[in-house]
Amino acid sequence: MAFDLAKYKIETRQYSVRTGPIRFGLAVSGLEYFLWHRVLRPLWSHCYWRHPRLPAAQSFQPKHVENCRVFADRWEILRSLSKGKIWAEVGTYEGAFARDIIDICEPSQIDLIDISLDPLKKRGLVHETGTVAFHAGDSADSLLAQPDNKYDYIYIDASHDLIDVARDAEAATRKLKPGGLIIFNDYTCFSLGEMRPYGVVLVVNSLVASGTWEVACFAFQPNMYCDIALRRVPD
Ligand SMILES: C[S@@+](CC[C@H](N)C(=O)[O-])C[C@H]1O[C@@H](n2cnc3c(N)ncnc32)[C@H](O)[C@@H]1O
Repeated sequence: MAFDLAKYKIETRQYSVRTGPIRFGLAVSGLEYFLWHRVLRPLWSHCYWRHPRLPAAQSFQPKHVENCRVFADRWEILRSLSKGKIWAEVGTYEGAFARDIIDICEPSQIDLIDISLDPLKKRGLVHETGTVAFHAGDSADSLLAQPDNKYDYIYIDASHDLIDVARDAEAATRKLKPGGLIIFNDYTCFSLGEMRPYGVVLVVNSLVASGTWEVACFAFQPNMYCDIALRRVPD
């Protein structure tokens, strides 16, 4: 059905009506500007002292994305990958996406890593088998306990704090086979769902800016919790 702008404007009037004239470059009233910038944002920063505003991420250059394939969603990335490979999912929660990886990519081996395996076992979507192994523990430590160059694909979706993503990424770079992919979920600077910054963009962009990694895949997500996959730049 075609998009009807007039109908949409009426139905969403409460969201789309401007609250005031454009001031300070924003369509907000002076009161809103004061409340947000002078009261709520400093208060939020103070309360979330563990999540200070993060520095700006490094920019990509054209060469970093020239071989990037763009996908509608993360399941399309899975459909594009080779079957029968060795996987790790770092942060698996209830195993919903692990189930999809297993069904779509038919791994020869998949390690599911999480600080707590209770949700995974309770949901029962995935069970330990000859090809599926559960690992309880810190994500980076669990990855580091595996042999170097073990994995074809590593999917990182555990803690999204900068320090944790950086540790997971560093461990993953050691455990990935040459030619493998590290796929990062939630490639976004700030989670509107949790109202806190994510470290994923900073870590991914730093890896790419180092010149060792290029962007292989990018997948959209309706709320822009996108996926991005990196591979080593060939020698
Ligand atoms: C967003 S959920 C994973 C969702 C799953 N990848 C999916 O798409 O269905 C994040 C998971 O990471 C786990 N986690 C968070 N911090 C962790 C850490 N430091 N080490 C291991 N697991 C961690 C949480 O317990 C949680 O189950």
